[in-house]
Amino acid sequence: MTKVTIQAFLMLSLLGFSCSNGAKQRAEEAPTDPATTTQTEEHGTEVKEVKLSTPLDQNMVKGGHGIYDLKCGSCHKLDETKLVGPGWKGVTQRRKPEWIINMITNVDMMLEKDPEAQKLLEQCLVRMPNQNLTETEARSVLEFMRSNDGEK
Ligand code: HEC
Repeated sequence: MTKVTIQAFLMLSLLGFSCSNGAKQRAEEAPTDPATTTQTEEHGTEVKEVKLSTPLDQNMVKGGHGIYDLKCGSCHKLDETKLVGPGWKGVTQRRKPEWIINMITNVDMMLEKDPEAQKLLEQCLVRMPNQNLTETEARSVLEFMRSNDGEK
């Protein structure tokens, strides 16, 4: 009997604290001491400009899809539903390409100082780990996201 109750409670809390629900628990998680952030070599390589081409580069789309399957699919779905992180449907409309690239290659910097990224963290309650992608790989993932959003 108690088992059932616990399960029901877990279900409820999963629903209640899904990605759309803000909770104020990130204050302790955000590293304020720069010495505690390890990927410092990556810092300062903030991407300022991304050039998009139409039509899409299908080789990059394919490469990006492969990276997604290997490194992103465990936390991100391709529709709009949340898994650990937000679903990717519509992400290229919600965000600027530069923002997306920086979120992929420089997630620690983004979670430290970008208000939109911080909002996602408040909703998801999990820090996206740095996936150690090069800028070129990140660019392929972006091409795949554009394709997923219906661009040709
Ligand atoms: C362990 C889970 C996890 C993995 C693996 C992961 N992410 Fe994330 N991602 C998150 C979470 C959680 C967020 C929300 C921000 C936060 O809480 O840190 C996020 C946010 C994002 C966002 C912003 C989405 C939006 O709606 O604005 C992008 C873009 C993104 N991730 C790309 C990637 C890419 C590309 C990969 C693979 C190379 C990847 N993520 C792998 C958990 C993950």
